[in-house]
Amino acid sequence: ARVGVLISGRGSNMAALLYASQAETCPYNIAIVVSNQPDAPGLALARAEGVPVFAASHRGMDRAAFDALVDDELDRAGVTHIALAGYMRLLSDAFVSKWAGRMVNIHPSLLPLHKGLHVHEAVLAAGETVSGCTVHLVTPELDDGPILGQVRVAVLPGDTPESLAQRIQYAEHQLYPRVLAELVGRDGSAHHLTAQVRERAF
Ligand code: GRF
Repeated sequence: ARVGVLISGRGSNMAALLYASQAETCPYNIAIVVSNQPDAPGLALARAEGVPVFAASHRGMDRAAFDALVDDELDRAGVTHIALAGYMRLLSDAFVSKWAGRMVNIHPSLLPLHKGLHVHEAVLAAGETVSGCTVHLVTPELDDGPILGQVRVAVLPGDTPESLAQRIQYAEHQLYPRVLAELVGRDGSAHHLTAQVRERAF
C-alpha cells in the first residue's frame, strides 16, 4: 500500500509511520507527505528522509478547491490510503467519500469521549484517571468514524495538559503504525506480504 500522510504541524506521528515502514514486513510505505501549512516542522523531516512532499497554504482557497488540489497530488503519487496526522483542517464531503474506508485519523482521547480540540484540558477538568488515543476511519462527522484501535494511558496526579499530551503521544506513536498496517493488510496487501515472505524464503 502507498500511504499519503497529511500534516499541519510537528509531524511526530508522521515520523512514527515513516520509521515503522522501514520494517521489511511492513505492508505500506509513505508515498507522499502533504501539508496545508508550508512551514510545518514535519516537512523538513520528511524532506530529509527523502519522502516527496507537497505543501500549499489553504488560505484564500475554497475548501473543495483546496481538497481537489491535494487529491490531485495524492493521485499523482499513486496513494492508496491516507493517514491524517495532526491535519488541522476539516475535509470536504467529496474528499471524504472518495477515500471512505481508506482514510484514517489519530485523535488523542479515548473516543467517543472528548472529540475536537482542548481534549487534555477536558480530561483533567473532569477528573478522569485514564485517557488515551484512538485511530479511526474518517467519516464526514469530526472524530466520529469506526474505531480501529485504542491505547489507554494513565492520568497522573499533577498532570498538566502538556504532560498528559506528551505521554499520550508515546502511545500514539506505537498505535498508529500498527493499526495502519492492519488496515492496509486487510485491504489486500496480504498478497504483497506473502510475496515478500516467499522472496526471502528462496
Ligand atoms: C496528535 O496528538 C494527534 O492525536 C492529533 O494531533 C497531534 C499531532 O501531533 N490529531 P504530531 O504533529 O503528529 O506530532
